[in-house]
Amino acid sequence: MRSKELEIELVKEKKDIPFELLEVADPSTEHIQSYLKTGSCYIAKNQKKLIGVLVLNAIDSETAEIKNIAIKESEQGKGFGKKILQVAEMIAKEKGYQKLIIGTGNSSVGQLALYQKAGFEMQSIKKDFFLKNYSELIFENGIQCKHMVVLEKSIT
Ligand code: COA
Repeated sequence: MRSKELEIELVKEKKDIPFELLEVADPSTEHIQSYLKTGSCYIAKNQKKLIGVLVLNAIDSETAEIKNIAIKESEQGKGFGKKILQVAEMIAKEKGYQKLIIGTGNSSVGQLALYQKAGFEMQSIKKDFFLKNYSELIFENGIQCKHMVVLEKSIT
């Protein structure tokens, strides 16, 4: 699948999964391994170079979830995150889902801005999610990451 400047490929073999990129978005190897068992992993390339990753999972017949989305550090802030989100939406829509959800930390100020600009709306909060599920303490923007904010977008 092609979006302007971005080429998206489904990863078919485990050896081709870019773990170093998945870890940019998620510090837990255990979590990554867990959602990769059922999810579809896509890589994003720009001019043949790997720049991003996306993992989509089904929640139920109506809802898909973005479990991981990351852009290589040197390529961040150039609009690729916005594009890969649009591609996620296109893929989920093609697969027949009506809603797309994404979860992020209460401290992830930039991500919360990005997702809301892309049309996602806050749906719920998983209280203490990061305290309960991650062994290390996470701080971003001077804020402790404790809760998961779940955002949702209708894609019908
Ligand atoms: N405040 C307001 N807007 C912000 C912002 C902030 N702190 N940080 C980013 N944005 C906005 C940008 O301004 C831009 O909007 P605009 O086009 O209207 O100006 C929009 O977010 C998209 O920016 P973009 O350049 O497409 O983002 P990106 O390529 O850096 O990708 C991430 C975004 C989050 C995928 C990327 O930064 C990344 O991989 N981060 C590390 C991993 C991660 O956190 N993954 C998500 C876990 S939930």
